[in-house]
Amino acid sequence: MSAAAFIEKNKDRFLNELLDLLRIPSVSADPKFKNDVFAAANFVKESLEKAGADVAEICETAGYPIVYGEKIIDPSLPTVLVYGHYDVQPADPYELWDSPPFEPVIKKTTIHPEGAIFARGSADDKGQFYMHVKAFEAMMATGELSCNVKFMIEGEEEVGSDNLDAFVMAKKDRLKADVILISDTHMISMKDPSITVGLRGMAYMEVEVTGANRDLHSGTYGGAVANPINVLCKMIASLKDENEQITIPGFYDKVQQLADEQRKRLNEAPFDLKEYQDKLDIEEVHGEKSYTTIERVGIRPTLDVNGIWGGYTGEGAKTVLPSKAFAKISMRLIPDQDWHEIATLFEDHFKAIAPKSVKVKVKKHHGGAPAVVSDSSIGYQAAEAAMQETFGKRPIPTREGGSIPIVALFQKELGSDPILFGFGLDTDALHSPNEHYGVKNYFIGIETIAAFFKHFRQLNQK
Ligand code: BES
Ligand code: MN
Ligand code: MN
Repeated sequence: MSAAAFIEKNKDRFLNELLDLLRIPSVSADPKFKNDVFAAANFVKESLEKAGADVAEICETAGYPIVYGEKIIDPSLPTVLVYGHYDVQPADPYELWDSPPFEPVIKKTTIHPEGAIFARGSADDKGQFYMHVKAFEAMMATGELSCNVKFMIEGEEEVGSDNLDAFVMAKKDRLKADVILISDTHMISMKDPSITVGLRGMAYMEVEVTGANRDLHSGTYGGAVANPINVLCKMIASLKDENEQITIPGFYDKVQQLADEQRKRLNEAPFDLKEYQDKLDIEEVHGEKSYTTIERVGIRPTLDVNGIWGGYTGEGAKTVLPSKAFAKISMRLIPDQDWHEIATLFEDHFKAIAPKSVKVKVKKHHGGAPAVVSDSSIGYQAAEAAMQETFGKRPIPTREGGSIPIVALFQKELGSDPILFGFGLDTDALHSPNEHYGVKNYFIGIETIAAFFKHFRQLNQK
């Protein structure tokens, strides 16, 4: 039997196993789910064992474990390293989900007429990394596995991968591979398969603005003492100018400008602005002047408030002039911006623009480097050939706005090409209520991964 036939024959089981994994609420951000995160690691380990790995182990770290697995068929053959994450984003706000986030259900949608799996983590990243486990199982079961394979599935991606760098540095030899496959990104659409060749970096900050040393009666003091919420809003508003350019001095110093020719090619990818707006129910897009939407997310940095709080937010009205106001602010970065440098520029600027009437504290959360990967490596060619085979169309290289900070580390430390082999869609509602992943995407992903192994082996022999 061919791997493709094996996949076809085992479809129901492949789907049900993913649903079991999705039932584990492995939210890395919230300590309440600690046991579940460990349970998910265990599930991954066992699924690698069952699929035929020689080695499948839980590697403890200072945080959540990294699951490592491998099957070496012949050390002289090419080796594929698969990276993914079994942790998920918090499901909040729960009330906005149409069905409970950890009780997966399959429902048809306009974009997924064959059905999509609704659950937190379905697309990001359980449904996507699990395709690799199933492709591996299918290749093992049918004797089609043509390259060595290693798996590194972590549990802290959604909180900044704090312990992954040390793991990679310590296990460089063990992780040695000819290519790294990561399925944790999008394609343009099922009709227009694509391969991501650029990801943005990230610098995540938190600010605290303090006015008076206690909450005040807003009548007795209002208008005479600084309100830290008002001040914070003004400070945040000043971080972008009328062209939506970031005003932090030095922010753009290291941003690579793309040549006109490259920009032109980027904009040739299929993109329908009207459809984009309609799907989001917005009248107009918004962003940096003189750049297209594709460019605004793909090749330009940005700054966004992710959360802002302070004062009274309970039922009814309370007249109060709060003592403190807070915000979480992230910046998405572009080569060659360095996140530590950007975080420092932000901190210095934020403190410099604060009026004397308040005190400001700035904290760095996590960050990561942007990455651009080659669209001509052997790995890329194999991915291209695999997609050509399963989608019947040559994939388009695209740059995405999201971040997988570890990609840059892999390039630097492991020296092999990461291939961002994602099969999700931008409408899958990642990090949002009603996250889902197309059933068809799941199966075509498994098939395409199996095809990748075949092409990667062949291309390496040439
Ligand atoms: N899978 C995403 C990254 C992603 C999403 C890339 C869509 C391209 C398209 C990943 O799990 C993620 O959410 N990353 C975080 C990084 C952060 C926590 C350091 C992000 O982009 O916000
Ligand atoms: Mn992800
Ligand atoms: Mn994510």
